[in-house]
Amino acid sequence: MDIKNIISNMLSKKSPDELIATSKKSELKKTLNVFDLIVIGIGAVVGTGIFTIIGTAIQGGPEGVGAGPAIVLSMVMAAVACVFSALCYSEIAAMIPVAGSAYTYTYATMGEFMAWMVGWILMLEYAIGNITVACAWTGYFVQFLKGFKAVLPAFIVNFPMWLRNDYRFMLSYCDKYGLDPHSQMPFLFDKIPFAVNLPAMAIVLVLTLLLIKGVKESTRVASIMVGVNMFMIISFIIVGAFYVKPENWTPFAPGGFEGVFMGAFLIFFAYIGFDAISTTAEETENPQRDLPIAILGTLVICTILYVCVALVLTGNVPLGQIDIQAPIAHAMRAVGMDWFAGLISIGALCALTSVLLIYQLGTTRILYAMSRDRFLPKSLRLIHKKFRTPHVLTWISGLVVIVCALFMDLNISAELCNFGTFTSFIIICIAVLILRKTEPNRERPFKVPFCPLFPILGILTCGGLMVYSMGSLKTSATYFPLWLLIGVLIYASYGYAQKRLEEKKRAKYSAPKSKVEV
Ligand code: ALA
Repeated sequence: MDIKNIISNMLSKKSPDELIATSKKSELKKTLNVFDLIVIGIGAVVGTGIFTIIGTAIQGGPEGVGAGPAIVLSMVMAAVACVFSALCYSEIAAMIPVAGSAYTYTYATMGEFMAWMVGWILMLEYAIGNITVACAWTGYFVQFLKGFKAVLPAFIVNFPMWLRNDYRFMLSYCDKYGLDPHSQMPFLFDKIPFAVNLPAMAIVLVLTLLLIKGVKESTRVASIMVGVNMFMIISFIIVGAFYVKPENWTPFAPGGFEGVFMGAFLIFFAYIGFDAISTTAEETENPQRDLPIAILGTLVICTILYVCVALVLTGNVPLGQIDIQAPIAHAMRAVGMDWFAGLISIGALCALTSVLLIYQLGTTRILYAMSRDRFLPKSLRLIHKKFRTPHVLTWISGLVVIVCALFMDLNISAELCNFGTFTSFIIICIAVLILRKTEPNRERPFKVPFCPLFPILGILTCGGLMVYSMGSLKTSATYFPLWLLIGVLIYASYGYAQKRLEEKKRAKYSAPKSKVEV
C-alpha cells in the first residue's frame, strides 16, 4: 500500500465552490431571518448549563473545586473563549453558507480525515450532550411535581428514586448516606442493581417521535418553549433580586483561581449551541448579514442573562446550601416561594426540551451529511415515506440517548461534551487561519477583526481551559481520547474504504463531469 497515496486521500478536500454549488441545489426553503436565528440560538444555548450545571460549578463536584459567587467571573471567562470562536464561525458561515457547520468547514480546509473526526467529535457535543440535558430534565420534572404538591397525589410527587436516577447515582447515594442499597432499589436475581431514569427516557422518546413527524412542527414547538423559558428566567432575576443578601457573596472566591477556572470549564456547557445557528445557513434569507449578527447577538444576550442569574442565585442562597440538581427552582423554595419554584421548573423544562429537540435535530443532520459523504452506510439515511424525514437516523440518535441515560452520569457527559466542543471550536479557529492563506481573495461578507490575533486567542483560551481541567477531571479526561480512538478505528475500517469505492464509481460512470449526489 502506498503511504503517500493514503495520506493524500486523507487530506483530499471539498472546495468551497463545490460546497456552495451543492447547497445551491438544496431544496430547503430560505425563510429564516435574524429574529428566527436568535430564537434558534437561545433555544439551543439556554438549558442545562444555567438551570443545573451552575450548581456544581458554584459548589464543586467529586473531581473539582467550585467557584463560589465568583462563578460570574467564570461565566465571563467562558464567554470570552466563545466570542473568538463565534467570530470565526461567523466569518466561515457567511463565506460558505452551507449546512453542516464545523463538519463541512473542516472538509473544505483540512480534508477528509479531519472532517470525519470533527463529525465524530460533534457527536460528543450533540448526542452525548443530550444525555446531560435529558438527565437534568428529570431533576426539574421532580421539582415541578414538588411545586404542585398541594394539588397532586403524594405517590406522584414522591415517586421512587430508582425510577428517576441511574443505578450508579443510586449506589453512590446509598454510600453517601449509609443506606442499604437493597432497601432503596430492586435487584435483578438479587445481584444486579436496577434503576432507570424514566422521565429522561420518556421525554427523549416523545421528541424522537415528534422529529420523525416533521421539522416544521418541531421548530414551532421549540420557539414557544424559548418564549416561556425567557419569561421565567427574567422573572427569576426580578423576583430573586428582592431576596438578595449581599453577605452571601462573601467569601467571593472560596476555591481561588482553581475554582474560577474549573467553574469556567463547567459553565462553558451553558454557552454551547450558538454554533447550531450556522447549521441553518441554507435556510437563511440573507446568511451573509444575518448569521454573524445572530451568532454574536445570542452570545451577548445569554452572557448578560447568565451573569444576572448567577448574582441572584448566589445572593439568595448561602454557599453550601445551593442545590446541584435544580438550583434555580430550589433557590425560590429556599426563600419561601414554593409555587414560584414550580413555575420556574416549567420554564426550565421548556428550556431543556428545546435544547433536546435542537440537539437531536443537529445530531441527525450531521449524521445525514456524513452518510451522504459515504462515511456511514447509505441505509442510515433512509427517508420516511410519509413524513419525509430521516427516520432511521432520528431513531438511532434517540435510542443512543435513551440507552446511555441508563448508566451515564450527568456531569461526566457534560464534561465530555465540553471536551468535544472545545476541540471543534479550536478547529474552526484553525480553519479561519488556513482559509485566509488558501483563499485570500474569496469574498468575506464578515471578517474576524484583528486576524490572526483573535483566532489564535480562541485557540489559546479554549485549549487552555481544556488542558487545565484535564488535570482534575480524571474520568472524562480518560474517556475523551478513547472516543477519538474509536473514531479513528471506524474511519480506518469503514469510511476510508467507502470513500475510495465512491471515487472509483464516479470515475467509471460520471466522467468527464462528476455528478454530486444531494
Ligand atoms: N447550552 C446547552 C445547555 O446548557 C447545551 O443545555
